Amino acid sequence: MEPPCTFHHCDEAVIATNDDASDCKRCAVRLGYWKDDYIGYFVRNQDRKAPEINRGYFARVKGVEMCIEKFLKKTDGNCQIINLGCGFDTLYFRLKDTPHQVKNFIELDFPTVTARKCYTIKRNKALLAKIHDEDGEVRLSTTDLHGPSYHLMGVDLRNLDELDNKLQQAEIDYKLPTIFLAECVLVYIEAQNCKNLLKWISSKFITAVFVNYEQVNMNDRFGEVMLNNLRSRGCSLAGVESCISLDTQIGRFLECGWNGSRAWDMVQVYQSISPAERQRVERLEMLDEAELLTQLFQHYCLVIAWIGELFQDIEITVEKRMSSLNID
Ligand SMILES: C[S@@+](CC[C@H](N)C(=O)[O-])C[C@H]1O[C@@H](n2cnc3c(N)ncnc32)[C@H](O)[C@@H]1O
Repeated sequence: MEPPCTFHHCDEAVIATNDDASDCKRCAVRLGYWKDDYIGYFVRNQDRKAPEINRGYFARVKGVEMCIEKFLKKTDGNCQIINLGCGFDTLYFRLKDTPHQVKNFIELDFPTVTARKCYTIKRNKALLAKIHDEDGEVRLSTTDLHGPSYHLMGVDLRNLDELDNKLQQAEIDYKLPTIFLAECVLVYIEAQNCKNLLKWISSKFITAVFVNYEQVNMNDRFGEVMLNNLRSRGCSLAGVESCISLDTQIGRFLECGWNGSRAWDMVQVYQSISPAERQRVERLEMLDEAELLTQLFQHYCLVIAWIGELFQDIEITVEKRMSSLNID
């Protein structure tokens, strides 16, 4: 039997998952999988990852981006983005370099993580310049940073009173269409706490979309190995019960008051990326083990849930004639 997990010890291990994710993103960016002029400010590590990992991160970032683009088009920028468990994600800075602007962009993570993110932003003019506008000031504490339309704040997402308080500080508008992003975050939150969070969001916001990327099919042999790897690093994966299948992923949102939900595994998401873009990345690196990539893709998913009618027609277009991944 596993030893009982002390609150603090588990959180430390969960916090460390951000370093992993950031290192992997940095590696894939350096190899040309996608463009990100900002990740290098947050991650110095230059370790090379396996080609399957790079391709997996490419599909993850592209999949989430496809959803955000659809949302921004529908709302015409009259919206908010809330990045839950944001880690060192650079979406805010990357969006600033596009014509897409949003009314408010809020990033939340444990204070240990946001303190490091704040510190890096404070020390780099290129990052700070994206947060200032002409006469807007930036307010900073050790863990929180507030610009005119960007807020980075330390909070435990399991504490809803604290979350509400932080969102007020960020001048949240509960009536404005809002997209929530959670990239490999919910799986680390205890099932009941996660349900409370999802219920709270669905009761507060009038029009919202949730984009959740995380593990799925955790009940088979490959899933078991993935879980054991994470557990051996001290992560208890407290929310894994919703990661059993696409149906459990969808079911969690429906149970928590969301009006609708759809989910795709990453095999489907990868196939929905344009053929030209897929061919481009497939030329970047030869895969050592094509089968491993397929298995990885089968064990991650993209879930969309919505409140209101804005996103009920969301679809990911998978090319029907492709029966397997074009992986090498
Ligand atoms: C695997 S990392 C992913 C980071 C980022 N979303 C990305 O994809 O690059 C998971 C993140 O979720 C955060 N997280 C997990 N549980 C949390 C909680 N209860 N409150 C706040 N942040 C949490 C961790 O601190 C960590 O930064």
